[in-house]
Amino acid sequence: MTDTYAVFGNPIAQSKSPAIHRHFCEQTGEDMAYTKQLVPEGEFRQAADAFFADGGRGLNVTVPFKLDAYEYANHLTARAQRAGAVNLLIKENDGSITGDNSDGIGMVNDMLNMGWELGDKKVLLLGAGGAVRGVLEPVLSQQPKCLTIANRTVSKAEQLARDFHDLGTVSACSFDDLSGQRFDVIINGTSASLHGDLPPLPDQLLAPKAACYDMMYGAEPTVFLSWAETQGADQLADGLGMLVGQAAESFYAWRHIRPEVVPVITELRRKMV
Ligand code: ATR
Repeated sequence: MTDTYAVFGNPIAQSKSPAIHRHFCEQTGEDMAYTKQLVPEGEFRQAADAFFADGGRGLNVTVPFKLDAYEYANHLTARAQRAGAVNLLIKENDGSITGDNSDGIGMVNDMLNMGWELGDKKVLLLGAGGAVRGVLEPVLSQQPKCLTIANRTVSKAEQLARDFHDLGTVSACSFDDLSGQRFDVIINGTSASLHGDLPPLPDQLLAPKAACYDMMYGAEPTVFLSWAETQGADQLADGLGMLVGQAAESFYAWRHIRPEVVPVITELRRKMV
């Protein structure tokens, strides 16, 4: 019997996850069905119970249900615990549900695939919401020289720096405090670009050969990446590779086979423009 998987979200119509997993199945010959499901707000638990009772093997979970999924899981991986959010649920053979978070490792793997190094680099993360919390552990596992978290609401950046200080050299500041500092890798994890906004960043923030990454993606370059280009960034990337990377980690967790991500990113990009 074909194993069934799904992505739960609200809204969900725009989700590329079914297309990504279809590509992975074509590549690997795995027999699985993957659908998207619009779940009404407040009904995550009922929807997940029904899905697993029906024989479902695993779920991806997107906005706004990552905290519901965190609470739903019977056990959490260490990285999901650190992230405080779950985007991946796995039904184990004993019937229990494991909650994992593959967003951060998806982003770091995307950077590594592009030949970006984080080890021994000065890294700046913009934002201090759920998206940034989700990537902190995988970013710190690459052992950057130092990691700075800058946020409009400084207290949220300070809280993250406290929560992750045991994993590396992490500091917090406001956007104003960035003046005079230089970074090798800058990652935008604010939701500002969703609204066509840019955090107020000083000029000369980029060290020579700097790389800039936006967790958001779109057919057009994001506001942040356009800014980074004017600042002379050496390398630029949006979050499409992060999306495919988190899906690849999900596929691996469910099927124990690692799919190729690069052809899938290329194909999705081709369809977007
Ligand atoms: P997500 O789950 O996408 O991380 P979130 O938890 O609401 O969403 O966090 C959004 C992040 O984007 C926050 O860091 C937010 O800054 P505040 O903590 O000060 O609210 C940041 N953000 C949103 N709009 C912004 C803007 N116009 N300029 C700068 N930062 C912005």
